[in-house]
Amino acid sequence: MRRITMSRGYRTIKLNQKQHTAWITLDRPDKLNAINEIMLEELSDAIDSLEKGANVRCVVIVGAGEWAFSAGADFTELRKLTPEIAKEFSVKGQQVFSKLKDMSKPVVAAIGGYALGGGLELALACDFRVAADNAELGCPEIKMGFIPAWGGTQRLPLIVGVAEAKRLILLGERVQADEACKMGLVDKVVPLKELEAEAEALAQRLCELQPAALKYAKLVVDSVTKVSSDGLRKETESFVQLISAKETKEKIDAFWSQRNKK
Ligand code: COA
Repeated sequence: MRRITMSRGYRTIKLNQKQHTAWITLDRPDKLNAINEIMLEELSDAIDSLEKGANVRCVVIVGAGEWAFSAGADFTELRKLTPEIAKEFSVKGQQVFSKLKDMSKPVVAAIGGYALGGGLELALACDFRVAADNAELGCPEIKMGFIPAWGGTQRLPLIVGVAEAKRLILLGERVQADEACKMGLVDKVVPLKELEAEAEALAQRLCELQPAALKYAKLVVDSVTKVSSDGLRKETESFVQLISAKETKEKIDAFWSQRNKK
């Protein structure tokens, strides 16, 4: 059965549906699906519409192209953040990802290629993570002098434990798919060409279960691992302080210009 496009005039994501599963495709493949302000807005709108969609029982999020689920927050926007905008930037991302996490329907991240920074934070807000064998996951922010600010500092330790979260967040280490699976960061690894079929099979299993039972199962399990509003507030405050520092701006600029010289 074909996927039916649900056109809502989005520019950075695509939304389509196959049977009871809605697929959100992060659709900036030429920018490795980097998450800009428009994409955050469109994700927020899509989540609202899928939450209301009576015919939708499960959501899958995937990146367009083979190379990335998402390479994180859009650098062109990061470089311009003032302290005021940095606060909004962090709070907005936290809100959208918390809304995703709090959906009454299960959400699967299908991770092919890079899931870095905000891209990993998006995947962390999903209920299941299936990865392709080319997946590479991590939080590179520390190398540029800042920290994840879209809930990642709170969700990562809940998923992989404090020690592994510190390895990724404090050291900025990246992990490949197999290692990510061993540490519980992803649930399963499959060859890249099987990624969508694997996510679809998982979504199908979820769709066959009773929606109300799934909704309450998710609600009660998530109550054990709810991120605290205090933790999110501290994440935002720390991010704003760090991103406003001259040194951080220099590191981000150095990273960006070095990348453009390749
Ligand atoms: N924001 C905006 N654009 C991004 C991006 C980001 N986070 N990550 C990649 N891109 C863009 C690049 O600018 C490039 O576009 P261009 O050709 O128009 O300049 C395109 O995506 C491909 O990226 P490129 O760096 O050429 O690919 P690569 O295979 O050599 O390297 C990465 C891939 C992921 C290692 C590298 O792009 C990278 O380190 N990106 C940033 C990851 C990161 O630190 N994310 C966290 C941000 S908080």
